[in-house]
Amino acid sequence: MSALLDVKREFPILAQSARGKPLVYLDSAATTQKPRAVLEALRRYYEEDNANVHRAVHLLSERATKAYEGAREKVAAFLNAPSIREIVFTRGTTEAINLVAHTFGRTRVGAGDEVLVTHLEHHSNIVPWQMLCQSKGAALKVVPVLDNGELDLAVLDRLLGPKTKLLALGHVSNALGTINPVRDIVAKAKAKGIPVLIDGAQAVPHLKVDVQALGCDFYAFSGHKLYGPTGIGALWAKAEHLDAMPPWQGGGDMIASVRFEETLYNVPPAKFEAGTPDISGAVGLGAAIDWLTALGLDRVEAHEKALLEKGTALLSAVPGLTLVGTARHKAGVLSFTMEGIHPHDIGTVLDRQGIAIRTGHHCAQPLMERFGVAATARASLGVYNTEADLEVLAKGLTKVREMFA
Ligand code: ALA
Repeated sequence: MSALLDVKREFPILAQSARGKPLVYLDSAATTQKPRAVLEALRRYYEEDNANVHRAVHLLSERATKAYEGAREKVAAFLNAPSIREIVFTRGTTEAINLVAHTFGRTRVGAGDEVLVTHLEHHSNIVPWQMLCQSKGAALKVVPVLDNGELDLAVLDRLLGPKTKLLALGHVSNALGTINPVRDIVAKAKAKGIPVLIDGAQAVPHLKVDVQALGCDFYAFSGHKLYGPTGIGALWAKAEHLDAMPPWQGGGDMIASVRFEETLYNVPPAKFEAGTPDISGAVGLGAAIDWLTALGLDRVEAHEKALLEKGTALLSAVPGLTLVGTARHKAGVLSFTMEGIHPHDIGTVLDRQGIAIRTGHHCAQPLMERFGVAATARASLGVYNTEADLEVLAKGLTKVREMFA
């Protein structure tokens, strides 16, 4: 049986032409397209259930609350979290990481302490920690990356020290596709009593995540990279942390009672969800999780692995093309440069052929600098991609070369 899935027709947006050619979408690491099941869940929510949550006794509010809290149950099951109380809805991975920096970080990190990140990180897993360290007089330490895009684990061992108050690392690199051995890394940190936050934005769409098996303290991800809507994501955190962490944003829903003299806060996760949340976003995320789970993450992984192998072979055969990031364990990301051709020119010529890729620094400037480039071109895969998409990409790159040779 072929490892490949055949789900493109479930994504209405992919049926269109772009620049007069059939659209070939290879930018799923930036954001994924949405299956009809998600679009219908959003429409149904607004047509049938829309109301504010946790606030009223009327029927629609009851239904909206049920839908919102039902989505939380789906997220908890998806990550194998021990309790739905440990799932905080956020705007996405970035907000989830900022939440931890402003609460756990603010109380745990002091002058002279260290926060450890890696050279593979997206800006969203660098800048919040840099800001925290600057405000506290702490130091940001960085685990180096090897030439193939894997982390230098020997140096990681040495950097995990008595001053380390938190290790924050990505599960899968958005720019190179490297899948980090997070389970082993978490075990190393936990052996020294160091809490670990994992940025799972690029992992959850591609592989099965079990936060209990990983043994980490925090796991963050975004809905829009998981075939769900933009503007919604989640933070999973151990209950003991959520109980101890001070609130971040103040407002409705995060309180138990408010008096001018003193406000008492709600219990988690409400303590961290001030204001009207993105209810429809949560509903859409729940629908995306249902859809992906029904498809089967094992099958998704096999599909993308087969495509990655094919894409790697096709791109390696393009003269003058260098793949950036050749880790042994990779998700469906093909980052590359072409001799004498600027990545933006590659992107522009491909776009004229209906092919969508991302070019630039991929919100990972330190990593680009590490590899001596200002930017790369990046084709990234989703469940809907096919071998034919990769063949179109390879032909497109041949055309790029012809134009600039
Ligand atoms: N983090 C997203 C990307 O890698 C935006 O493209």
